[in-house]
Amino acid sequence: MIPEEIIDEIQTKTDIVELISSYIPLKRAGKNFRALCPFHSEKTPSFFVNPQRQIFHCFGCGVGGGVIQFIMEYEKVSFPEAVEMLAKRLGISLPQKRLRDSGNRDYLYKVNQLAADYFFENIFSSSGSRALSYLRQRGMGEDIIKEFKIGYALRDYRDLFNYLRNKGVSISILDKLSLVVKGKDGSYFDLFRDRIIFPISDVRGRIIGFGGRIITDNTSQPKYINTPASPLYTKGKNLFGLSLSKEYILREDFCLVVEGYLDMITPFAAGIKNIVASLGTALTQEQIRLIKRYTKDIILVFDSDKAGQNASLRAIDMMLEEDMVVKVLELPAGYDPDRLVREKKEDFLKLLGAAKDFFVYKLDILRKAYDGSIAARAKIASEMIQSILKLQNEVQRQEYIKLLGSSLGVAEEALRIEMRKQQKGKAGQRYVEMNLSQDKSPFEEEHIIKSMIFYPEIIPLVEDALKDIEWEDRVLGELFAKVIECYHQEKKFSEQQFLEHCSAPQLVARFSKLVFNDFKLDEKVLEEVILKIRRRHNQRLRDYVRQNIKEAEQKGDEERIRELMQEYRALLKER
Ligand code: UTP
Ligand code: MN
Repeated sequence: MIPEEIIDEIQTKTDIVELISSYIPLKRAGKNFRALCPFHSEKTPSFFVNPQRQIFHCFGCGVGGGVIQFIMEYEKVSFPEAVEMLAKRLGISLPQKRLRDSGNRDYLYKVNQLAADYFFENIFSSSGSRALSYLRQRGMGEDIIKEFKIGYALRDYRDLFNYLRNKGVSISILDKLSLVVKGKDGSYFDLFRDRIIFPISDVRGRIIGFGGRIITDNTSQPKYINTPASPLYTKGKNLFGLSLSKEYILREDFCLVVEGYLDMITPFAAGIKNIVASLGTALTQEQIRLIKRYTKDIILVFDSDKAGQNASLRAIDMMLEEDMVVKVLELPAGYDPDRLVREKKEDFLKLLGAAKDFFVYKLDILRKAYDGSIAARAKIASEMIQSILKLQNEVQRQEYIKLLGSSLGVAEEALRIEMRKQQKGKAGQRYVEMNLSQDKSPFEEEHIIKSMIFYPEIIPLVEDALKDIEWEDRVLGELFAKVIECYHQEKKFSEQQFLEHCSAPQLVARFSKLVFNDFKLDEKVLEEVILKIRRRHNQRLRDYVRQNIKEAEQKGDEERIRELMQEYRALLKER
């Protein structure tokens, strides 16, 4: 954490016009400056800098914020890194501890690299001969061992420990990197002993952790142990092999996703290079986004057993949500990608060519699990709809609904009705029925937020008047909450303070847009706007309750009808 006074100082001392013009040419335009936006391609400039408010905003692509956000966007760095860069530029020194920590990070990579080099040396030495012959037996050539820097950790308890200690690495660093574990007596020893070592790299090829495999399959020990959490490594945030395969993923414009180390390495060695491994965890959102940098097309290659199927089904929905194109390669029973590629590469390639669209894959699984009864088909329909709803594209949704209708022999219209029902249930909100729009922002709602930002003294009053309101523009609703939160923290509100506390890019972008142009408060107008919003809210609630009454009537649920009528009358009165 960087102290707030320092962030304040950096924001105050950095002039946004001067900063941005050191990156791109700015032209004066009235009170503001403008330029071609560096964050999207355009022919007429819609990127503006407001020197009074020390804010930039692109009215084309919507990015915006203050000096820190500009650096974050432009240099593609995190908030603290941006602060650091600005501090350096101003010659402000950050507190010692932080500096040491950031220096530390480079050092941590270096120590991991030392460990990897050491393991790698071992494998070609006499102590590593068992490991090397195991790898050979699994079909691995020297070139691949070198490319992946596969290594061997000796059997001794303190082999790596002593090696790195002799190089001057402190115990606390070894501990931090989880290269060692602490024994009951308080002394440390190596985490990896008598194991084949697979270094795990980040996208840039820096070594962040290791996986270690036993050489002789021995049930008393886990087959693999992996670096537990360290400052460089968090499970589920990286993909094994990506630093080597990314260029091929870009070139081929699709990516195979497998589970295990060898399942990535063997196909890669056999020329199927656009491949990454999730390393035994369920695929996470972060991993999916990592792939999305390089391609939107994914082929999942998981085991054909139940666990593998479930993992695929979960991954499918997550990827559809990310607007990716998902297919599944089904492996023959008993094979993993490593074994199939090694033993029957042609078969693997054939299966790859015949990978099933997510829809066909899931439908096939469900059909095998259920019989053909009406109830079963309804259940299948509802599970399929769950995935179809994750699709971001309406045309695709409609096409899949058609396909689902003809595959199950049910009426499309029935499926559409079910889809609508599930959609409502899914959002789990009270007011989804109202079909809230996300990008159309009502004038009144923007007016409220601007009033609060430009005249913070009215925040408590506005909060009181509107705290129970469902916002039509979700982002504005979130801004409303965030502004109030900031205000309560310090009993005041400033743009700087907001930009310091708010890390959600979507909120910052909207914020910069709202504060970009001057705003004058007219109390009469504000009052009207508040009333209007409340009235609209009341109207929506009444619509909602009325609809529920209708449904309760159809079911003949007398008690529910009574309840709802009471609610309805209360709403009428409030109006
Ligand atoms: P598998 O059990 O399928 O192993 O685990 P594998 O990759 O086929 O291993 P080989 O071929 O026998 O060498 C898949 C992945 O799950 C993780 C590893 O990342 C492994 O590659 N795993 C498995 C562990 O982390 N620990 C374990 O004990 C087992
Ligand atoms: Mn395997």
